[in-house]
Parts: sequence; structure tokens; C-alpha cells
Amino acid sequence: MAIVIAIDGPAGAGKSTIARRLARRLGYTYIDTGAMYRAVALWAIRQSVELSDMHRLDQLAQAADIQLDSTRDLVILNGEDVTLAIRAEDVSAAASQVAAVPAVRRALVLKQRALAETQNVVMEGRDIGTVVFPNARLKIYMDADPGERTRRRATEAGADLESVREQISERDRRDQTRGDSPLAQAPDALYLDTTDLTLEEVEEEILKMVRARTSNGKEHS
Ligand code: DC
Repeated sequence: MAIVIAIDGPAGAGKSTIARRLARRLGYTYIDTGAMYRAVALWAIRQSVELSDMHRLDQLAQAADIQLDSTRDLVILNGEDVTLAIRAEDVSAAASQVAAVPAVRRALVLKQRALAETQNVVMEGRDIGTVVFPNARLKIYMDADPGERTRRRATEAGADLESVREQISERDRRDQTRGDSPLAQAPDALYLDTTDLTLEEVEEEILKMVRARTSNGKEHS
């Protein structure tokens, strides 16, 4: 297995931006596992599959051909570019529901593990350090206070604060309370509160930890 850096945490903690920058700095592949749950949710919506129909959701998750093109930052579902479509509000809500289905998680976790077989990765999600790669080389749990997370998401989406606040708290509640692989900090993960830190500060902080555990991002010889 190649080197895995696992980044988990709630919505709006800054995981995607940091994971992408970190991967670029280290020459690793950036893997956004949330995009995979979103892709399955999008497919389910398009096929009018009920989000309570676990059997059909399982079939979709297994059959989905999801390609993450990390050099061009694209998400491809069954050959179609769905990069923008998966960010729609209804897809965000559906993704959090689909992600609570154990069979869907099983199918996507297999795909996630396969991605790290041949390349070093910075993998971002909710259960990467706890379930997908319990032996990851470095685990970071990124957090920020809820007000700050709301502001970041609202700015990103160009949406109003109040509706984003509600969406985020509903999604966080579902992600943290589901029975299978809830969002949680792994016991050996480093907790990083990004509320008052700039992007550069967060990136430097993590790079220091990476360097301490690898030979400047490469395998120890
Ligand atoms: O990170 P995101 O907002 O794009 O994730 C979309 C949804 O997928 C979110 O509600 C949490 C869920 N998710 C998950 O359960 N496990 C992961 N490894 C990644 C995302």
C-alpha cells in the first residue's frame, strides 16, 4: 500500500481546499470521497430511486463508474462530467442520506481502498482515519466552530447564511449519528481547529506533521 494521509471532519472545516493544496505540494493524488457519495446520490435522484430503497441504492453504488480526475478537478460518473451537478443543494442533502446506507458505504469503501493501492493519496472524508484506512500514515481531524464553517460554505456557494446554517447542522447531525461509520475523530488523529488559522498556516502545520512521518513526503528508505 502507498502512503495515505487521511483528513476527516465536518462540512466547512476546510478539508477540501487543504487536502487539494497538500496533495499538490507533495505530488500525491487528492481523493474527495464526499464526491463519490454525491455521485451515487445524483444517480439515485436521476433514476427516481427512493432514498429509503437500500437494495436499489446498493446496486447503484456497486455499478457506478466514478472517476476522480484530480489533475483537472473533475468528477466523472458513468462517463459524464458531473463536477457541478453534484454540488446542487438537493444532491448535498441526498448524499448525506445515501451515506447512511451500510451497503453503499461498503461499495464505496472498496473503491476508495483500491485507489490507494498504487499511488500516494491525500484522502478526505468522514471515516477515512477510522474505517477506510485505520493504518493511515497520518490522520488529521479538521474542525472549526460552526459559525465559521457556515460562513465558509455560504461564501463558497454564494448562498445566504441562514439556509446554509440549517443545511450544515442537519447534515452534521446525520453524519455524526448514523449507525455505520459516523463522523468521528480517530483516537490517533491529530485535532486541528482551523477557526482562526489562514490556509497557509493550516497547510504548513500539516506539512510539518507529514515531514515528521515520512521522508519529506516520500517513503522512509
Ligand atoms: O464532504 P461532502 O460534503 O462532499 O460529503 C457529502 C456527504 O457524504 C456528507 O453528508 C457526508 C458523506 N460522506 C461520508 O459519509 N463519508 C465520507 N467518507 C465522505 C462523505
